[in-house]
Amino acid sequence: MSELIIAIDGPAGSGKSTVARAVAATLGWSFLDTGAMYRSICVEAARQNVSIRNEEAISALAERSIIRVGSRVLINDVDVTEAIRTDQVNHDVSLVATYPSVRSAMVDRQREFADGASVGTVVEGRDIATVVFPNATLKIFLTASLEERGRRRGTEGIESIQRRDEIDQNRETSPLRRPVDARLIDTTDRSVEEIVKEVVSCLESLPLK
Ligand code: DC
Repeated sequence: MSELIIAIDGPAGSGKSTVARAVAATLGWSFLDTGAMYRSICVEAARQNVSIRNEEAISALAERSIIRVGSRVLINDVDVTEAIRTDQVNHDVSLVATYPSVRSAMVDRQREFADGASVGTVVEGRDIATVVFPNATLKIFLTASLEERGRRRGTEGIESIQRRDEIDQNRETSPLRRPVDARLIDTTDRSVEEIVKEVVSCLESLPLK
């Protein structure tokens, strides 16, 4: 069991996945993209003809599904790595992520994933430092200008990003928030290498426990 966690939160397009993956590769740690878990539920719901508005059915589906997030994303043994990035999923995922029982099922799995890591885990999402790992070794909150985030998300478009931000920040359960003890990094106009260096040097400057 590993207790080393770097929690990275921030809005869509702030650079979380790219930075988290690169930090994990640099440190030789595991990496977990928690957004991919919520996204996979939307794809599975469509496959099973379950309406995303049916909170009870979506919660049951989330609780019984086996989700694997690594270099590929699988739900119930179906590879959905590409299917989770469609406009439809971009649209549906924020609603699915408001359901408390879906969230609690995902949080349990996120903690199990980190428990199984051999060294440490870099985890990215919206509630990682606030809810999933409130005692994380290091907490990072990424931001970027709306224009830059829109550019990074390509076809998703600025309106869709703004809509998701709005839902993610204002939902009742585990809204996206910057914890006071998180280091804020604005990724606009900065290279991935620079940000990775900053995160790794923050980690190295922590007092040894
Ligand atoms: O990071 P992403 O764009 O793949 O996330 C997709 C959606 O999933 C996001 O709009 C909100 C939700 N999400 C969440 O509520 N909590 C997380 N830890 C990760 C993602």
